[in-house]
Amino acid sequence: MSLNTRKFKLTPEQRKAVESKSKDIVVLANPGGGKTALIVERIHHLVTKMQVSPEAIMALTFTSKAATKLRQRVHNRVGVTAKAMWIAPSTVQACS
Ligand SMILES: Nc1ncnc2c1ncn2[C@@H]1O[C@H](COP(=O)(O)OP(=O)(O)OP(=O)(O)O)[C@@H](O)[C@H]1O
Ligand SMILES: [Mg+2]
Repeated sequence: MSLNTRKFKLTPEQRKAVESKSKDIVVLANPGGGKTALIVERIHHLVTKMQVSPEAIMALTFTSKAATKLRQRVHNRVGVTAKAMWIAPSTVQACS
């Protein structure tokens, strides 16, 4: 099996979010509920089916550890084009 082949079937809820034409999607799910998998699949869908340029995709996470994991998962799924995407931890600044 290719590294780029997904090993599971998306739930109907995941598929709806992955293929949504809406620009604003909110996903609420339990820990381990498949949120990151959904994001990875949406990026794959945008690049392979919707002709979205990888350079136009930005993914922000809370921590650099999460960014590293997401980058790896996107790379495994989408391949080398993932290198053109911006996947990074967001900076949260507190004002006092
Ligand atoms: N539809 C699905 N069917 C089977 N397995 C799935 C499905 N969606 C996700 N998984 C698997 O479930 C596990 C958890 O998924 P994932 O990491 O996407 O969840 P998460 O909501 O991002 O977790 P966390 O809250 O820890 O960030 C992974 O091993 C993933 O491959
Ligand atoms: Mg996650």
